Amino acid sequence: MDLDLDFVRRRFPKPCWDWAFFENAGGSYVPQSVIDRTVAFMSECQVQPHASFAPSAMATERIEAGHRVAAEMIHASPDEVVMGRSTTGNVYVLAQALRPLFKAGDELIVTNLDHEANVGAWRRLAEFGVTIKEWKVDPETATLEVEALQALLTDRTRLVCFAHCSNITGAFNDVARIAEVAHEAGAWVCVDGVAYVAHRPVDVKALDVDFYLFSLYKLYGPHIAALYGKRQRLLEARGQNHFFIGEDEITDKLNPGSCSYESTAAVQGLGDYFDALHKHHFKTAKNSFRARVEDTYGPIVRHEEALASRFVDFLCSKPGVRLIGPATADPARRAPTFAFTVKGRRSAEIPPAAEAKKIAIRNGNFWAWRLLDALGIDQRDGVVRVSMVHYNTTEEVDRLIQALDPVL
Ligand SMILES: Cc1ncc(COP(=O)(O)O)c(C=O)c1O
Repeated sequence: MDLDLDFVRRRFPKPCWDWAFFENAGGSYVPQSVIDRTVAFMSECQVQPHASFAPSAMATERIEAGHRVAAEMIHASPDEVVMGRSTTGNVYVLAQALRPLFKAGDELIVTNLDHEANVGAWRRLAEFGVTIKEWKVDPETATLEVEALQALLTDRTRLVCFAHCSNITGAFNDVARIAEVAHEAGAWVCVDGVAYVAHRPVDVKALDVDFYLFSLYKLYGPHIAALYGKRQRLLEARGQNHFFIGEDEITDKLNPGSCSYESTAAVQGLGDYFDALHKHHFKTAKNSFRARVEDTYGPIVRHEEALASRFVDFLCSKPGVRLIGPATADPARRAPTFAFTVKGRRSAEIPPAAEAKKIAIRNGNFWAWRLLDALGIDQRDGVVRVSMVHYNTTEEVDRLIQALDPVL
């Protein structure tokens, strides 16, 4: 069955649709179920969890349920997933936690494709004698080639950090293949999945990644984030919380200050949303939430491809447009996240043309500073980014095309 857009959009508060919203890679809308779960937590059990009185027990149960949904979204178990306030914060904590495991002269590889979240915290470890190497994009295609990684790997390489999907180009990296290559060289991988999770189901076990990070607020959830690690890796990582929290208390030891309770509980609303989509689109009920999630991405992916193909055709028909990343809507290669510059115009001139028609897009560097540098694009003005998700309609894409047509 095709994605029923009326059904999808009815799950969200009405004012969401006052604008054609194409800044989803910055942060997506949340369905009413997430809002309801937040309100229910804050009005019924806004107390410290883990005490025995009833509201506290209720808080514990709801926080654990939200945590479980976050873990199942990527096919992990909750004791392998740490909730934190942001992916940037989670990478920072992880880098500090792994630092004692690295010796001077050990090598870490970061890219110049990534959002700075999965770069800067690792680069800082150079202060402690670790060597940082950069896996560079091909400046013509803005892609990372596995051969270039292979040339960087040595027997001192400990970790390779890269993104599942670029928040600029929308292109996917072949995580399973890269993990295999890194593992053969004896290195671990740390994957930023932030720009990927809204578009495709993730299975951290199948990908065989050591660490995987994503932000719930880009996945129709509250403004928090999750860090997955293989259990053994998380046990080895050194605790960053109070000294009396044990090294085996994985989810607490890597969560200094803990994560917003109401937001963690509200992730249950993301589960409610996927369940509602599944029930509406599939005749056969499935017992496991994970199986329902996998099914539900099917119509999402097909709809996103239809949106992407309309927009990529439009961009490619414009000789003055430089599309950054793959000129295709192929769902195996990209998410419907597009970045471009326009010959003879500043990127900052483009969004106002859309805003006049109540269409939200944005220009900037989107914290992928090093990528723009590699591509010779001024970071302050940046690229124009149009990022779609499944709740966008073809009618909205057509409105966007009409608004952009005179200015591109
Ligand atoms: C690909 C990617 N990684 C990381 C981040 C940072 O996420 P957070 O805001 O949770 O730190 C972003 C945010 O835009 C992103 O797009």
